[in-house]
Amino acid sequence: MVPERKRHLITSAIPYINGIKHLGNLVGSQLPADLYARYLRARGHEVMFICATDEHGTPAELAAAKAGKPVAEYCAEMHAVQTELARGFRLSFDHFGRSSSARNHALTQYFARTLGEQGLISEVAESQVFSVDDNRFLPDRYIEGTCPNCGYERARGDQCENCTKQLDPTDLINPRSAISGSTRLEVRETRHLYLRQRSLKPEIAAWIDSKTDWPVLTTSIARKWLNDGDGLQDRGITRDLAWGVPAQFEGAPWQGMEGKVFYVWFDAPIEYISATAEWADATGQDDAAWQRWWRVDKGAGDVTYTEFMGKDNVPFHTLSFPATIIGANRAGGAEWKLVDYIKSFNYLNYDGGQFSTSQGRGVFMDQALSILPADYWRWWLLSHAPESADSEFTWENFQQSVNKDLADVLGNFVSRITKFCRGKFGEAVPAGGEYGPQEIALIAAVAEGVAAYQGAMDAMSVRRAAQDLRALWVLGNEYLQSAAPWTVFKTDPTRAAAQTRLSLNLVRLYAVLSEPFIPDAAASMLAGMQTTNRDWPEDVPAALAALAPGHAFTTPEVLFRKITDEEREDWQKRFSGIRS
Ligand code: MF3
Ligand code: ZN
Repeated sequence: MVPERKRHLITSAIPYINGIKHLGNLVGSQLPADLYARYLRARGHEVMFICATDEHGTPAELAAAKAGKPVAEYCAEMHAVQTELARGFRLSFDHFGRSSSARNHALTQYFARTLGEQGLISEVAESQVFSVDDNRFLPDRYIEGTCPNCGYERARGDQCENCTKQLDPTDLINPRSAISGSTRLEVRETRHLYLRQRSLKPEIAAWIDSKTDWPVLTTSIARKWLNDGDGLQDRGITRDLAWGVPAQFEGAPWQGMEGKVFYVWFDAPIEYISATAEWADATGQDDAAWQRWWRVDKGAGDVTYTEFMGKDNVPFHTLSFPATIIGANRAGGAEWKLVDYIKSFNYLNYDGGQFSTSQGRGVFMDQALSILPADYWRWWLLSHAPESADSEFTWENFQQSVNKDLADVLGNFVSRITKFCRGKFGEAVPAGGEYGPQEIALIAAVAEGVAAYQGAMDAMSVRRAAQDLRALWVLGNEYLQSAAPWTVFKTDPTRAAAQTRLSLNLVRLYAVLSEPFIPDAAASMLAGMQTTNRDWPEDVPAALAALAPGHAFTTPEVLFRKITDEEREDWQKRFSGIRS
């Protein structure tokens, strides 16, 4: 039975622009989101899969300064780098946008204006450090000085890197501007815009309470911040930075915000919407094309919206972004879509410690692809996704997983049956023979396995889905081992033909089922089977007869190679982050 075609909007948390992401970042949002998007497409649903780079804020400005480049140029370059890496990992975004886009400027200002018109934005006067020589207010991280605690001379206004003490800029001895080094600093009064989230609290609480099917990781974090944290305090949504979405604009219901931009966490989630608009622009479509995904009043009522993210992102997606949407929806007219399901992840650790961007510890996306193809990484990462707890990458485990699951189980099955067929029957699906009890039992077991796998995928249980998929591969391997067509062939070649026909059909079936995890290997398997039939096995017995007798194939190249002990040791050393 073909399931009803539905519409699914999927977003992955948008990675910060500064620097290349490590595998822990990848497995926490983009990769499982891709798995789900590929699966839903394969089941015939209409999918809009969106990601982008998160380009504003102090870290972007600082990284650009460190690279000696204007921030706009730096972001454009890094966006190109991240786009290329996303392609390398086969992340199948419909659009990979940029939070610095014109669309996001416009939509961020639209939301701010709408919230302001609803009385949900207030102006708050604050005292802040102003640098006379730089002619600007300095964010905490832009002020340096001597730590009052340990005497370290390059402590930052928010924290001392040396003794880790949290600081206020006014605690620093001999404070100076990190931009120019100037010591002509003054405390001046400045006004900022605040989003009055407290007044939205009852609505947000009711909305979260209604989400009884959400993962515990998501709701527990949301509830913690909602009830005993300070997650729903009114929140400053402007900053004194040059790079960002200007807070003063035409039609703004406030004045005097010149020189300020919106806080990065205000504009970043709005980029989910803006990136969909960027997609419509890039594909030559009108506003209706993206609005049918986001505007309930313009046809998005039947869309299911799922967000993927690491646990550190949960407060922003369960409280702050919904506050923006719920508040803006009060204006009436436009009804923006709220998220339906939030899939969040714990952290992936690296070989006995943490991934560290600053220490170069762990494997980063570019390095991973330079040593092995994407599928090897995708398989390990997804089958070890940090779902119920933090998980850990070790080279031993990686080697074992690749060599056993991919090479010994799946790869071996494909190569054994195709080579055997080529040798005895030629490179075409053999005709003749009947299925016996063993084949009938196998088909039933595969049907059961497919149902379990679908159940796990529907539930976004990533690890369980990987186990279920592997179990399906094992079924084929065990069947081949016990049916032993190479022995049967000697006495009963017709029966061996039937066994081979079923096994070759399993290769196609595995390609279709495995595609969300290992898209390149799936493509090679289908190419080898010389078929473009990627239909999901809604009816397993029928799917196992898709390749008819006489259907020609080519014996595929080795699908997965094994990782040697030598390579493992070499890589372990190379990525330890200990600089020689
Ligand atoms: N850039 C943030 C991070 O990497 C995630 C932002 S997701 C957003 O943690 F959509 F809310 F912006
Ligand atoms: Zn210190």
